[in-house]
Parts: sequence; C-alpha cells; structure tokens
Amino acid sequence: MAAVAVLLAAPVVRAAGKTLKIGFAQTGAESAWRTANSESMKSEAAKRGIDLKFSDGQGKQENQIRAVRSFITQGVDAIVIAPIVETGWDPVLREARRAKIPVILTDRTIQTSDDSLYACFIGSDFYEEGRMAADWLAKRAGGKGSIVELQGTPGSAPANERRKAFADGLAKYPGLKIIDSQSGNFERSGGKQVMEAFLKKHGKAIAIVYAHNDDMALGAAQAIEEAGLKPGKDIIMVSIDAIKEAVAAVAAGRLNCTVECNPLFGPKVFDTAKKILAGEKVPKKMYNKDELFDDTNAAKVLPTRQY
Ligand code: AHR
Repeated sequence: MAAVAVLLAAPVVRAAGKTLKIGFAQTGAESAWRTANSESMKSEAAKRGIDLKFSDGQGKQENQIRAVRSFITQGVDAIVIAPIVETGWDPVLREARRAKIPVILTDRTIQTSDDSLYACFIGSDFYEEGRMAADWLAKRAGGKGSIVELQGTPGSAPANERRKAFADGLAKYPGLKIIDSQSGNFERSGGKQVMEAFLKKHGKAIAIVYAHNDDMALGAAQAIEEAGLKPGKDIIMVSIDAIKEAVAAVAAGRLNCTVECNPLFGPKVFDTAKKILAGEKVPKKMYNKDELFDDTNAAKVLPTRQY
C-alpha cells in the first residue's frame, strides 16, 4: 500500500516539444455514435501531431485489457480507455500505475475500489440522459402506456445508468409501465431483432419504445414498419445519442425524441492529457453538456449536426 502511495505521488511530467504517444483502447464499432467518437479522437490526434495508438476492442473487455498492456510495453505517455463494461479494470489499471502512465477514462465510467487508479473521466452523464428521456416521455404520453426497453451492452455504464434513471423517472407515473426489457447490444441489427421478438410477444399492447441508443431505435423502427405499423405515430419512439440520422428521423416523425450524447470530445481528451503530463491538476470528472431534440427543434438543428 505504501509503495502505491509513493508511485502516485510521483509527478507525471513529460519533456515539452517531444511527440506525444497516446494509446486509445476503444470499445469497438457497434454504433454510429462510436464511429463518430473514434473519428473525433483520430482526427484531433492527427491535427496535433500526436502519435495515437488506436485499438478497436471489438466489443470484448479482454481485447481492451490486452491493448492497455501493449500500450504499457510500448511506453506510451498516456492511456485513454473507453471501458466496455464497468467492472474488472483494477488489475490492469494498477499495472499502468506501476509503469507511471496516467490513464484517462472516456465515454464510460467504471466501478473500482480505488478511484486514484485513473486520472480523470471525460464523457456524458448517462443518468441525466435517462432522466431527460423519462421526463419527456411522461409529458408526451400523458403519464400512461406500455413500454418496451431496448438495453445497451449488458454491464456497460450507459446501459446500467440509462436503465436506472429511466425507471427512477417513471416511478411517479404508475400508468407508464415497462412490460419488457432486453439487450440489443447498442447495435442496429440487435435493436431490430429484439423489437421483432417484442412485437411477436406483445403485439399491439406496445405503446412506447425506449432505446438506450439511436441505432437500436432505428433498427426497431424498421421492425415496426415491417410489422405494418408506423413508428413515431402508432408507437412513441424515444432514444439517446442524437446522431444526425436520428435527428432527421425525429424531424420526419419516424422517431419522436432523441437525447444527445455528444461523442466529439477528442479535443477535450488531448487538452486534458497535455495538462496531466505537464503536472497540472485536472477535475476528476468532466461531463459534456447534452440537449434533447423532439418535434419542436429537430428540423431546425439538423443542418448543423456534426455527427
Ligand atoms: O457509451 C456511449 C454509448 O455507446 C452510445 O450511446 C452508444 O451509441 C454507444 O455504442
């Protein structure tokens, strides 16, 4: 324990002027959101002349852990992780700390017994997103209706927090009931498949779809159309991310609401890494500000959506 404290106290200051080498362990490429996030990191690194070692975890935590170990062996200056799931990170984070390499968590948070194992977190407040979705729905549905929920990747922070916040938000509306909830893994094909199963099982009882991301909502919309119904009219559709395609679908009335989860935080990540490596203090948690789009504002913001 004492040795750990000594390592933590050591400042992580790198020589100015040298090319920064940063490793980024991305979760995968499951959604349009993820593609935009990877692109934001890659293009910003290229703009700044940072040597970015990018690793696509292909949806598996073990691949991400392997990537982090390889970054440590390569002697990178800093490591960025978008953790696919919340648990199981402590051992590899300890290895990074032993190598005196600071770790920035982006996008998703983790559950750890020791918060000092990472330097900071940069991303969205998933609980707040779920709460915004629930509040919007309660008003729109007039406090009643049967809901099916399309969950994100099991064990991931966005799936856990968006689920909890939505359930908490609906607690004061006994007429709004979640009648089924399954994971579509944040993928469009997953959303479509799960929605097909929901339609088979519950048929016209379904009044509302709550999807933990836009890709699953768009997949579900396709399943609903193939079943001869109109998403956005016969079934209220609410989801999260605000990718351009979803905002366009809201403007067209095919989806009803999308809560933003901004993935374009490459600049903030590298600004923060630079500060940490210069020995500056940074806030432990930095949240992006997210908005909500529905039929009142989707058409207006559509031309300026960047992802
Ligand atoms: O962690 C952010 C979530 O992961 C986004 O909402 C989703 O689209 C992505 O795959």
